[in-house]
Amino acid sequence: MATERPGASIQEPSSMLPEGGQNLFQRIKEVSTRAEAMDIELIRLSIGQPEGYPLVSAMEKAAEAIMSRDQSMHEYQDNGSPGVPGFSEGFVKAHIKTPLEGENVAYLPTPGTKPMLGLFPLACGGADRKLTIATMTNPGYPTPKDWARGYLGHNVFELPLNPENGFRFSIKDIPEGTDLIMINYPHNPSGQVATKEQLEELCQYCQNKGIRLVNDAAYMALSHTDESTTLTDVAVNYPGLSWIELFSSSKTLGNATGWRIGAAVGSPIFIKDLATIKGNTDSGFAAPLAAGVLYAVEHDKAGIEANRAKFERRIKVLTDIIKNNGVQLAVEPQAGFFVLTKTPRYAFGEEMKDAEDFNTRMIYQTGIVCVPFHPYIRLAGCTDVEALAPKIDAGFKKAAVSY
Ligand SMILES: Cc1ncc(COP(=O)(O)O)c(C=O)c1O
Repeated sequence: MATERPGASIQEPSSMLPEGGQNLFQRIKEVSTRAEAMDIELIRLSIGQPEGYPLVSAMEKAAEAIMSRDQSMHEYQDNGSPGVPGFSEGFVKAHIKTPLEGENVAYLPTPGTKPMLGLFPLACGGADRKLTIATMTNPGYPTPKDWARGYLGHNVFELPLNPENGFRFSIKDIPEGTDLIMINYPHNPSGQVATKEQLEELCQYCQNKGIRLVNDAAYMALSHTDESTTLTDVAVNYPGLSWIELFSSSKTLGNATGWRIGAAVGSPIFIKDLATIKGNTDSGFAAPLAAGVLYAVEHDKAGIEANRAKFERRIKVLTDIIKNNGVQLAVEPQAGFFVLTKTPRYAFGEEMKDAEDFNTRMIYQTGIVCVPFHPYIRLAGCTDVEALAPKIDAGFKKAAVSY
């Protein structure tokens, strides 16, 4: 006798989160897959992580460290780095100009920057009250906004960033009552950097108003101009300021995005607050990989410089091609590997609806895949754009854009 499977008529449990809709990157992937099926050769300027592997110097040191019989290399690192003493100080110092000797700062090793970004509202007392948080997320890396507004329900104000202000907001843009400002210089996706003067004005303002200030400096090692200044180099001169800066190895050593190694530096009480929440969230990073990272930043400066110079060349190749073909930059990139352009009004003889429309037509008609962040288009130099230059040029010629 056939028996019905128990529970066969019961509905599958549903998600408890609001419907998110289809993600932008999933849509790009779908269009790209369809284009490939039509035998269109794709030129992927959409990929936002360096290709390949980390510096060999880092890999060799990490390999040696992983064979260590010393327990400290393999145990929970928590908010310290017993396996790699002095990791955070050494890693932070590789990014800054100030010697930081005797200054009142504290350090915190991190498993990369992304997992820290969502913790800041909680580290600022946001479990008990609604905070006002200013972010650089429009356009920008969305995690600070997604956590603060989307998951935790705080008031998020996206600071104005546009070609008119050169992707540098003004202190006049900061709303009254702001508790926390989360900036990101060098900025993804514009490649804009922060200057000393700009950060001085911001630090003074935040100190006066009692606003906590955070900078995500994931792209600092890929600064292509000496003008690019870390928050640390400026904030140490404001003893009444509560601040933190986050550095990451992900893009500093070639492709170390999966290694999950970084460090935070900042004013001691703010670092302690972050450490409290972090200590209840993760158990620290993988020490052998941190050993590799520290070795490379201290002993393979040539490798790190070669990595930076490669991206500087690539964004120059991309900007030259697109400018020669009438594409307008949103701003001249000065760091990282992205180039941000304004969306053309006309291309392929037709009016474009928006950035996504332009991107889709570029994929089908030229094979060039970018990322639309309306009203901008982001191109990445993570693939070998020097080798692909003639094809990229031909693609933009075919698009025949105008504004
Ligand atoms: C602005 C920005 N911050 C943080 C990250 C992530 O850094 P990590 O790999 O250290 O988590 C990225 C990665 O794309 C980024 O663009």
